Amino acid sequence: MVFEHAQKCRAFPTYKKMKTYKIAKMPGDGIGPEIVREGVKVIEAVSDKDNFKIDWVEYDNGAEKYLKEKVLMPEETLKEIKQTCRAIYLGALGDPRCKPGVLEKGILLKTRFYFDQFVNLRPIKLLDGVWCPLKDKGPEDINFTVVRENTEDFYVGIGNRAEKGKTKQELEVARSLYNVKFGLDIDSDSDEIGYQIGVMSKEGARRVIKYGFELAKKEKADTAYFVDKANVLSDIYNFWRENIESVGKGYNGIKPEYMFVDAITMWFVKNPEWFKVVTTPNMFGDIITDLGAMIQGGLGLAPGGNINPDGISMFEPIHGSAPKYKGMNRANPLATIWAGAMMLDEIGQPKAAESVVKAIEGVLKEGKVKTKDLGGSNTCSDMGDAVVKKLG
Ligand code: IPM
Ligand code: MN
Repeated sequence: MVFEHAQKCRAFPTYKKMKTYKIAKMPGDGIGPEIVREGVKVIEAVSDKDNFKIDWVEYDNGAEKYLKEKVLMPEETLKEIKQTCRAIYLGALGDPRCKPGVLEKGILLKTRFYFDQFVNLRPIKLLDGVWCPLKDKGPEDINFTVVRENTEDFYVGIGNRAEKGKTKQELEVARSLYNVKFGLDIDSDSDEIGYQIGVMSKEGARRVIKYGFELAKKEKADTAYFVDKANVLSDIYNFWRENIESVGKGYNGIKPEYMFVDAITMWFVKNPEWFKVVTTPNMFGDIITDLGAMIQGGLGLAPGGNINPDGISMFEPIHGSAPKYKGMNRANPLATIWAGAMMLDEIGQPKAAESVVKAIEGVLKEGKVKTKDLGGSNTCSDMGDAVVKKLG
């Protein structure tokens, strides 16, 4: 419908200059297609209102394609997106018919790394009208952003197994920012070992630390929080701290505060109001943002953006593909719709982004339309419709 309207409008000279953005849409697996459908619905509605246009290019990478064609995320596809699209709108990846990690690493992480989306931005914001599991905490207490490093740490994907005896293994991290090779001579008398190497580079650490400080500055925070486990994984995370110290010298008036990952989970629950910006290495960021999602009302309400400030960013809910709800039209699409708003902001439509978040908040505050996770019985598409209606 919206499409028809946009087509017709082309006939009028006043619409000639309508700004158009080409966006790669990747619904993915499980509930992915349903939630992305609602996200697209909302983005179409707001773009119609605000006079810009999205050209969606659909990519069907995911479990189905992999099982049929053995194709995950080919270099040519990524190249094509790089040459033609402004951003990527992703549903979710993961399917019980595939071994854990195949789709996640072969599609999701491959895309994050290819586009060097080094920041995973995850707002933890309790919207008005949402039930919070923390007693006596409200929207004024839970309103911060997690800046998760998104290309390094224990996510670089190098590790292996070795059987008893002597083995030689070559491992490599190949990035646009740097290349690292490890040549390992293993000599073990254990029956078998498995190991995984975490890597942090000076360049990789400093750019995300800077992003964290910049965001803290923008938010007028006097403290910038940083996560690690330097008391045990000391080599990698003392290196992290040293870089924070030196980058932090450029930010007068913002004090870096270090928190161990175990401790910060406790403070998220006890004193979430302390935080404005929390910057974290990749793996700890993954873990603490699921907790963050819960204190903001659940996984159905937690959006994320994989950001390359100078390149192509990708927006997705932080939850997974929930295969058991696939095709049931019952998942909550708000996280995906909100991720869509983050995308609008990033491509240069901040007003539209704000309207979408306001509309989400409006629907939640009113409390008439609620999906199962929010204690109601409305469908995924009811929720999308409600947000469109609130946009006015
Ligand atoms: C997330 C997810 C991914 C991650 C998985 C699916 C690879 O859990 O986006 O939080 O660990 O980054
Ligand atoms: Mn996760």
